[in-house]
Amino acid sequence: MTSRLCVLAAIVPGVSRAAANDQHQVTSIFQPLGTPAWDVYHIANFTFIICAVIFVIVASLLTYALIRFRCRPNDTEEEPPQIYGSNQIETAWTVIPILIVFVLLGVTARIVAEVQEKPAPKTALKATVIGHQWWWEFKYPSLGITTANELNIPAVDGMRSNPTFLDLESADVAHSFWIPQLAGKTDVIPNRRNEMWIDPSKPGTYVGNCTEYCGTQHANMMLRVVVLSKDDFSKWVSAQQQPAVADPQALEARDAFLSLSCVNCHTVRGTPANGKFGPDLTHLMSRQTIASGILPNNRQELREWIKDPQQLKPGNLMPNMQLTDKQIDQVVSYLLTLK
Ligand code: CUA
Repeated sequence: MTSRLCVLAAIVPGVSRAAANDQHQVTSIFQPLGTPAWDVYHIANFTFIICAVIFVIVASLLTYALIRFRCRPNDTEEEPPQIYGSNQIETAWTVIPILIVFVLLGVTARIVAEVQEKPAPKTALKATVIGHQWWWEFKYPSLGITTANELNIPAVDGMRSNPTFLDLESADVAHSFWIPQLAGKTDVIPNRRNEMWIDPSKPGTYVGNCTEYCGTQHANMMLRVVVLSKDDFSKWVSAQQQPAVADPQALEARDAFLSLSCVNCHTVRGTPANGKFGPDLTHLMSRQTIASGILPNNRQELREWIKDPQQLKPGNLMPNMQLTDKQIDQVVSYLLTLK
């Protein structure tokens, strides 16, 4: 199990221009930075140590037997004395493995129960994660915030745990939500609500990926968890709760955006744009990346994306709108004001 996770950890978060800027960001389960990832790490180490001890004992006995009883030039062809029915040996090799299995079972069951049955404190932040082909929608029902691809949450508060509880839903096919440094994987399944929680110990950006094959752009369904200090998180919430900025310098660009069919799929709160199929753009420029983590969020990449999303991420649901260069410039100018 551990080696499989290693391989997966090594391929997250895929190849992308945005990821190239994030090489300091860790996607290894061996550097956990929060509960329940620590529990997963400890149980993985514990299992590994037991398996390593068994391997060393068996390999040593085998090597000893191969050398000690190897064929020598003047050996007779007779078999050595054979031993049958030793109660001591048979009891040992039955009882010891049973004990090992029960110890591993007990430790695993205890940690699974601890993680799954953790009650949500009344004050805990709750968010809903919705998997889409191929991006993530994050809603904070109690705060009235909807965002995409970057989940902002608070870190532990001093020494006190400050978990965020997540409900996971899918708008289409099965996905899986995984941030290796923060928690194990949880499947995101249509017509079902799964739950998990994370409790990061340190502010920072944590990267992850969809880990259930969900179509051609599965590898480009990346996600980020932006962990903020308590104060920074409060500031983030206040900013996100505001309707979109109506920059007087960008009124013409805004009207151009609102006249295009962008509004059928995207919401910009405070404007007539209230489409629900694509990411909410109200505070687009507060996000580090676009297109679910594959591109840095800046003028140049926004321009390329809007010009032809199908070239950058073939098969995604945003069509090439065949906009003129002027229209693209206007849309990008407007989007850049959505701080
Ligand atoms: Cu979504 Cu793989």
